[in-house]
Amino acid sequence: MLDKTFIHPGSLVLSNRSARNPLPSAKWPQVTVTRNNQELVERCDVVIVAVRPEQFADVEIFAEDKLVISLMAGVSLRSVAAYTASRQVIRAMPNAAAEIGKSYTPWLAAKGVTDEQKAFAQRLFETFGSADEVFTENHLNYLTALVGTGPAYPALLARSMLEHALNSGLPPVIARRAVNAVVVDASQLIGNGHSVDELLQTLIDYRGVTAAGLEAMIAGGFDKTIKAGLDSATSVACSMSPFAHSADMKEGPMTR
Ligand SMILES: NC(=O)c1ccc[n+]([C@@H]2O[C@H](COP(=O)([O-])OP(=O)(O)OC[C@H]3O[C@@H](n4cnc5c(N)ncnc54)[C@H](OP(=O)(O)O)[C@@H]3O)[C@@H](O)[C@H]2O)c1
Repeated sequence: MLDKTFIHPGSLVLSNRSARNPLPSAKWPQVTVTRNNQELVERCDVVIVAVRPEQFADVEIFAEDKLVISLMAGVSLRSVAAYTASRQVIRAMPNAAAEIGKSYTPWLAAKGVTDEQKAFAQRLFETFGSADEVFTENHLNYLTALVGTGPAYPALLARSMLEHALNSGLPPVIARRAVNAVVVDASQLIGNGHSVDELLQTLIDYRGVTAAGLEAMIAGGFDKTIKAGLDSATSVACSMSPFAHSADMKEGPMTR
């Protein structure tokens, strides 16, 4: 956000328990760091909550009339609203590729969020990648499992390939460069004018080395394994809210 000059560093307040500033302070000396979460709320129009879900209950902010953007996995709009007293809540699910400006960030807005705030949120998320509004909590939870995981699933594929290449006797440097070339570089052809189905069908129809590899992987349960993994991650994303199974709303500090 700062690199893209989306916000002025003098307008940015960071709050955490250790008063740690993760930003290069020489580059942005005007950023304020505090240990007082409520001070952040008082000084800002937009509050981004980026603690772990299990830490949320200790954040203790009263943010009525502020746009609250939660990045927490699995914590519902209702829970965020109950614990912050804001009706203007957005849940968003970025991923670790934000670090290189390539996050895909789906987001979901509560009814109280204005069109202007939605447009602001979309532009904010686009400072570190691309973004889309979604319209149900189920879709956001599903996407938490699919994209919130960032590089995790491709990393698993890369590890499997690397182990195989090393077991096949390849020198480690070559093995790593080869796996990187496939998982990171060649995969950029996906979506580059070809649909995934077209790409795979063309390779299977060619009846060459690639077809043999693909068919053995599919017969070995590749497809089933990926889908079971996504099912499992989705069910955790749907149930991980620290408030999901309790009388949370009634117990929320702002609804007492
Ligand atoms: N990492 C990802 O790729 C990713 C992707 C999508 C969504 N998310 C979501 O983003 C959230 C944060 O994840 P993360 O990986 O960044 O976790 P993290 O590295 O553990 O960061 C959590 C931060 O919250 C601060 N914190 C904890 N309790 C606090 C409190 N009571 N008041 C103020 N600050 C507090 C911590 O600083 P102190 O210890 O100094 O307080 C720390 O800076 C999670 O809810 C996760 O679901 C993460």
